[in-house]
Parts: sequence; structure tokens; C-alpha cells
Amino acid sequence: MSSFSSKEFSRRRQRLMELMGDNCIAILPSAEVAIRNGGTEYAYRQDSDLLYLTGFLEPHSVLVLMPGRESGEMVMFCQDRDPSMELWTGYRAGPEGACKKFGANDAFPIGDIDDILPGLLEGREKVFYAMGSNQSFDHQLMDWINQIKSKARSGAHPPHEFVSVDHVLHELRLLKSKNEQKTMKKAGQISAQAHVRAMQVCQPGMMEYELEAELLHEFVKNGARAPAYSSIVGGGANGCILHYIENNAELLDGDLVLIDAGCELDGYAADITRTFPVSGRFSDAQKALYEIVLDAQQAAFEVIRTGCHWNQPHEATVRVITAGLLELGLLKGDLDELIEKEGYRDFYMHKAGHWLGMDVHDVGDYKIGGEWRLLEPGMVMTVEPGIYVSPHNMDVDKKWRGIGIRIEDDVIVTRGDCEVMTGAVPKTIDEIEKLMAG
Ligand code: GLY
Ligand code: MN
Ligand code: MN
Repeated sequence: MSSFSSKEFSRRRQRLMELMGDNCIAILPSAEVAIRNGGTEYAYRQDSDLLYLTGFLEPHSVLVLMPGRESGEMVMFCQDRDPSMELWTGYRAGPEGACKKFGANDAFPIGDIDDILPGLLEGREKVFYAMGSNQSFDHQLMDWINQIKSKARSGAHPPHEFVSVDHVLHELRLLKSKNEQKTMKKAGQISAQAHVRAMQVCQPGMMEYELEAELLHEFVKNGARAPAYSSIVGGGANGCILHYIENNAELLDGDLVLIDAGCELDGYAADITRTFPVSGRFSDAQKALYEIVLDAQQAAFEVIRTGCHWNQPHEATVRVITAGLLELGLLKGDLDELIEKEGYRDFYMHKAGHWLGMDVHDVGDYKIGGEWRLLEPGMVMTVEPGIYVSPHNMDVDKKWRGIGIRIEDDVIVTRGDCEVMTGAVPKTIDEIEKLMAG
């Protein structure tokens, strides 16, 4: 069961329905089950939209919302109770549980959806639906609409407008409630503990996957049963591969290791990166680049507050990183010109962050009407500047090559300074060296 109350789910549905208006219908299918190989499935992860609105974790389910419907605004379709199947795959809520525990006004076995859903669609003006996300469901929905159209001469009235449910729902998901923030802070704490553990055990000669195992241990032990994304553990030049997940190389004395890992707790992601020396001591070259990334992150924090726009933190990191690389001689030229012409991109090729929530790269628009959107209290984002010097970059001194550094934390936008949720893992050079020496 979700740690969110049924009241919170009900509030979320009400807000969505207010935005939809009357005489509309929203249809949200569950995520599909993905086959791993003969007879086995990937661990099931519910669709984030359905999860946000219901807390319902089972596959083969569909949520239907019909604002203003007198006989009940929420209908669910789900797997029927079946003791012989439950023996194999576990407990099911069944339609009765969907009503009693998840707030549905009516609920039906998923096998009855073809008979019932066309009747619910009939006479509604607009259908709110995420077209293109689930091909087989798209086809099913078109079949139901066509069924109604075929009865038009008998007076049936098919809906005549499709609206992307994402547009309204994802604006709601973008602003995190106090309870969501609480869960995200917990996910941040568990993930921070996992990074601390990795720093504490790291030794030259270990394999990258051994550190991955330490992270997973800390996640699962604390009730976060899965990482929010594949953990990245990149030693040496592997740290320059942004989404390196092989994690199968030896960690060498003298190299840095970059770990980008976070757990998912109760449907919410954490996303932390730390970069530290395998041996516990930074070299001078590593220190010099590390300090720039750390300063860049601090500069970003300073422009994350209500009223700043989305891209300001990124711009702040670009300025600090470009100036730092100029000073160290990795870049040459004029600061403003390098920024203007994106001369830093060989070393810093990604954005400084993304929205964070139920999805690690969470939903919500970054621009509104062509302009970067303004930050508002309750938005949650990552701040993750980096410098990556390709091992093949012959334009720079050898001592810089193959150094990859990223520092990533998760923050909540407030009216004042942003609130860092993942600060429990050290990130200054002194703090890291002290922890690793201990
Ligand atoms: N871990 C993926 C990211 O930082 O965006
Ligand atoms: Mn991230
Ligand atoms: Mn990350």
C-alpha cells in the first residue's frame, strides 16, 4: 500500500477533474507488463500518472474519471480476484478492493471493459487520454469510438475531441505537495546513505559493480526496493560516459570514480551524483577541476528561487565552468564569446538539471509560450553540473585527460534559498577525504 492517504489521492483526482471541466472523460491505463524472457517478467512498475491518481499498483487496470457524473465520477477496471492465480502472482484488490480501498465509485473486472467503456464514452464531448504511450490501448480506444460512431444513426453521440491528459495532469505533478516532498526527502536520505557507504568501502582493485552492490544494499535494506534508474558507477575515463551502466571495470588507484545513483521510494525518485578518488586522495589536477564543478553547483543554487526562470541555474553553471576552464588553460579565448558560441560544450555537454519526481526525468514543461518558465515553490529539480575531459582530447595537457566529474543534488524550490534534500553525502574535497580516511 502507498504511504499517501486516500484523501490525498482523492484531492489529486478532484484537481484534475476541475481542470477538465464537465462532460469530459479521462482514461488512464496501467503500464504494460514487460516480458524479460521465457516465462519471466521485468519487475512491474505502475504508470506514474495512474499511480499519482490512485496509488494502485496492479497491472491490467484502467482508471476512468468522469467529472460531474451523478452516479459516481471514478470508475476502475482491474483484475478480478482469482485464488488460483493469486497463488502464483500474489494478492489482487479486485473490483471490490478498488472501491473499498482505492476510492472507486464503481469497479469492474478488466475482462468486461469492452462491454462497459463504450457506454461511458458515449455522449461525452472530450476524451482526456495520453495518445501514443500505449499502442495496444490506443487501438482499443479507437475501436470503442468507432463502435459508437457506427451507432450514430440511432442517436449515439461519439466524443469529438481528444485532449492530451498529460498537459493538465503533468502541471499538477510538477508541483509537489508537502507529503510528496516528505517522501522525496526520505528517498534522498536513503540515497545519500548509499553514496556514503560506497565512499567508505571504496578501495583500489575493487570492481565498479562491487560499489553498485553497496548502493543496492542500502536502498533495499531501507525499503526502497529498486533504483530509480540504472546506477552509474564509472571509474576513471568511464566517468566521461554520461550514462555508463556497464559497471564492470576495475577501480584503479589514482583515478576518480563517478557514481550517479538514487533509489525509488513509494514511487518517487532520488538522483544523486558524487565523484571521489578511488584511493581516498584527490590529485592536484582532479582537485582543480572538482573545485570548478562544486563552485558551479553553488552558483546554480543561488538562482534557484521563486521568480527565477528555469534556465538561470544552467546559465550560472556555464559561466563558472567556462571561466574555470579558461583559467586552467583547457579553453582559450574570451569568456563571453566562449559562452555565446558554446565553446565549453566539449567539456560540459548537458543541462544543469531536470525536474524530479515520480519519474527521474520528471514531467512538466520547461518553457511556456516559448519562454523559460518561472520557478515556483514546490517544484523539485536536480542540480548537476559536470566537467568531462575526453581521454582522446589531444588539445589539452595529458594530466586532464580522462577526468570526468559530476556533482548532483536534488532541491525543492522555495520563496527563499532552495532546500537541498540530498546534502547528507559529503561533497567538499576535505569532507570526502576525511570520510574516506576514516
Ligand atoms: N541519472 C540520470 C540523470 O542524472 O539525469
Ligand atoms: Mn539527474
Ligand atoms: Mn543522476
